Parts: sequence; C-alpha cells; structure tokens
Amino acid sequence: MRVPFIAGNWKMNTTVDEAVKLVSEMHPGLEKITSVDKVVCPPFVSLAAVKELIKGSSTKLGAQNLYFAEKGAYTGEISPLMLADLCQFVIIGHSERRQYFGEAGEIISKKVQAALRVKLIPILCVGEKLEENEAGRTREVVAEQLRSSLAGINEADGLIIAYEPIWAIGTGKAATGEQANETIGFIRQSITKLYSDSIAQNIRILYGGSVNSANVTEFISQPEIDGALVGGASLKADEFVGIVKQTAEIKSITK
Ligand code: 13P
Repeated sequence: MRVPFIAGNWKMNTTVDEAVKLVSEMHPGLEKITSVDKVVCPPFVSLAAVKELIKGSSTKLGAQNLYFAEKGAYTGEISPLMLADLCQFVIIGHSERRQYFGEAGEIISKKVQAALRVKLIPILCVGEKLEENEAGRTREVVAEQLRSSLAGINEADGLIIAYEPIWAIGTGKAATGEQANETIGFIRQSITKLYSDSIAQNIRILYGGSVNSANVTEFISQPEIDGALVGGASLKADEFVGIVKQTAEIKSITK
C-alpha cells in the first residue's frame, strides 16, 4: 500500500522569519493528520529554523535542490552532506531548474545518485512543455526524462516521482485528473520497464501544477496518483492543511 504523500515546494519565497511563521501556522493542523506523509520544502536558509520547529513531529522537511559533489570549490552550492543533517527529502530536476539553470539528464542523474548516497529521498520531477503536450509528445518526453535522470541508478526503491506538466505550473491551469492519471500510469509502466513491477507498484508518483484545496480531490481520487507537489497553495497555511486533510479523507475511502 502506498502511503499518500503531500509536499509543499515553497520555491524562492519566505524570509527566515516568514518561514518560521508559516510553518508555525500550519504545523498544528498537519499534526492532526497521520495517514498522509507531509513534507515542507522551504528555501535552504530556513531549513535549520524550520527543523527546530517540527523536531520529533510527523511533518518532515525537504530541500529544493542540491549539488552532487560532497564538498569543495563550488561557490554558492549546497552539498548532499550538508542537507543530510537537516532534512529527509530533496526535490531534484524541477522544471524551473531545467528551464532557468540549464539542468538536464546527466546532472539530474548525478544529483539523484548523490542524494541516495546520503540517504536523502529524491523527489524527482518530470513533465512536458505546452508545445510538447500539444504535439502529442508527452509520453516520449517523460520517458526520456526518466531514462536520463535515472541512468546509472540501480536502486530506485524509496524514490518519489512528481509529474509536473510545465504548462500547469503557476498558471492556474491544472491538468485534468484523467490526464494526470494517464501520464502517471505511463510513468509507472516506465518504472516497471526500467526496474521491476514490484518497484513500480511501491513507488509514489505525485501530480504537481496548480494544485489547491478546491481541486485536489480531482487528482487524489485517481488510482495512479499518490499525492501532490504543491507550489503556490503551500504558502498559505489553511490551504496546505486543507489539501492534506482532503487527501487523507479521499485515500481512506478509495483504499
Ligand atoms: P504551483 O502549484 O504553484 O503551480 O507549482 C507547482 C510546482 O512547481 C511544485 O513544485
């Protein structure tokens, strides 16, 4: 049985004070819900402060990126070892990293391997652009992103994948539940081909792109969708708690 998973990607939002305030507002509500894995991913500079606030609780912490080297002359970068002490999860290959920072297959695969080496759980993001979607190339693009991002990785156990169609991110134009379910089902089949059916059945695959408390049930009620990677709506405490709460309710019914 795959435990539902909701992560909030705060992106480049919140100062340390604002991050502390936001997590203090959502934490009591999140702690009431135990049947869903809940993760908040604030900016690097707030990880230590947020860690203190949620210490010993069922709400977990993730980073939004990492560099693959352990240490050295890489000005401005953050290493897996630095994060391993602070959090349990790390988002890798987000489309904003691909689009604005030129990240692609080989770098992403090195980052996934670096995370796994220090027992950080990667949340690997894949997703197609609008023109690729309109040209009917979604499966081809996503399959290639999976193949290149997972190249050289023999153990995919524990990995989390997020399907985030780029045209749905921050646009208010979410995919439909059926569309997302179809592509996520395809991602699961691809994992079967790359690894095995048992790994594919255990791996959690999330939908991301304009998820909020008003549309989350459309996604969560789909059989292939195990949760959500939430951007904008994770910056509002009651929205994020509402998303987690509805996920718990829907997944307990559809189990
Ligand atoms: P939005 O929920 O703001 O569309 O962002 C989605 C996302 O990119 C999460 O990683």
